[in-house]
Amino acid sequence: AAVAMAEQVVADFREKCTTPASLLRDLASAMADEMGAGLEKEGGSRVKMLLSYVDKLPTGREEGLFYGLDLGGTNFRVLKVQLGGNKKHVVNRESREVTIPPHLMLGSSSELFGFIASELAKFVADEEKCANSSNRKQRELGFTFSFPVRQRSVASGTLVKWTKAFSIDDAVGEDVVAELQTAMEKQGLDMHVAALINDAVGTLAGARYYDEDVVAGVIFGTGTNAAYVEKVNAIPKWEGELPSSGDMIINMEWGNFYSSHFPVTEYDQALDKESLNPGEQIYEKLTSGMYLGEIARRVLLEMSLQSAIFGDIDHTKLKTHFLLRTPHISAMHHDETPDLKDVAEKLEENLEITGTSLETRKMVVEICDIVSRRAARLAAAGVAGILKKLGRDGPIGKQRSVIAIDGGLFEHYTKFRECLESTLDELLGEEASKSVAVKHMGDGSGIGAALIAASQSQYKYVEQ
Ligand code: BG6
Ligand code: GLC
Repeated sequence: AAVAMAEQVVADFREKCTTPASLLRDLASAMADEMGAGLEKEGGSRVKMLLSYVDKLPTGREEGLFYGLDLGGTNFRVLKVQLGGNKKHVVNRESREVTIPPHLMLGSSSELFGFIASELAKFVADEEKCANSSNRKQRELGFTFSFPVRQRSVASGTLVKWTKAFSIDDAVGEDVVAELQTAMEKQGLDMHVAALINDAVGTLAGARYYDEDVVAGVIFGTGTNAAYVEKVNAIPKWEGELPSSGDMIINMEWGNFYSSHFPVTEYDQALDKESLNPGEQIYEKLTSGMYLGEIARRVLLEMSLQSAIFGDIDHTKLKTHFLLRTPHISAMHHDETPDLKDVAEKLEENLEITGTSLETRKMVVEICDIVSRRAARLAAAGVAGILKKLGRDGPIGKQRSVIAIDGGLFEHYTKFRECLESTLDELLGEEASKSVAVKHMGDGSGIGAALIAASQSQYKYVEQ
């Protein structure tokens, strides 16, 4: 009876998570429509379509030494990139990854920026010990800040809201570059922020450096987002001077996309309600790494409470929010051992569930499959939406469209990635899918930030 009841929970969940191609096509159209509405006027859509003030993508001629700060993914990173000029390559790059102490994600703005600046200062100090820097110029920095920012220029902008696991009230509405600049001064660090960019924008810029057919940069990591190049004359809300390129990179902030047709379950609703940002970022909550493990945990808990399938266990762990992480469900989902040994191990290590039968472990794998498949299929619909907006979703002769994707979920969760790719083919159809390619762009935004900083450098006119 326990098995039958547990199977019922899984069957219900599967049923509510179905994503037929017809639904996905509607969602892709809705995404394209929301994009238009967001470009029309400020507040025109939940999809904010923020202007990045980056009006041209890297050419390959960028040159010089640039620093990068990358905040907003799983880890915070500081990096240094030497761009080689004409040769279309990065000569050298060094980086250091630092885990952000979780309390800083919920503390005060000055604490967070103080921490970032101190890590940057350490990185610079270490590097100076190794190299005798004869560079007398002021150091220049590209700051990748992976949250929605309303920019006023390429190097300034105010935080609209926090997303993912961050929530620091006193930073909302503040200029993040000014906050960083103040924190750097306190550290005695003489650095100039030449560019403030979103990670999706950075991924687009970084990928375009290597491949001219890249039309969009997309993140499937802790959160999800996309950026693409739009014609300024398709942006009615644009008020400034028209950039000579006629182009503008748009930071979509598509994580906040919403449709009443989303295949949501009671687990998603409860997750949203108990999150740091209820009612917001619903697409992100269905498709990104921060949440997939948590959705699966909620289903496992329900299954256990309904059926006692895991035996007479203590539910403390299984009731702990975010204890089951997406990398755990990925490991269970990819378990190829005949007796699902890895599943048993993950259940034991993370949730103190022991002695499960093979049948039960199969159900656990199925839950991972349902959660990640729904995510990947919805993700594909988002990508198809961009292609639709760009008029690149049909057969277009020899024109190639490359979507550059970064983020831990896409990089490490193979089945997610495969499902995203095959769903995109399914949505585009055989002909159109031949001209569309999805590419992984590792560390795109680090290099992208350096490239954009280079194109905005205060020294570029001197050097040319
Ligand atoms: C990295 C980018 O590779 O991917 C970051 O350089 C980005 O800027 C990150 O935030 C997203 O991935 P995750 O999985 O760490 O959220
Ligand atoms: C969240 C942020 C967005 C970022 C994305 C991926 O959606 O709001 O700015 O690009 O996560 O990191």
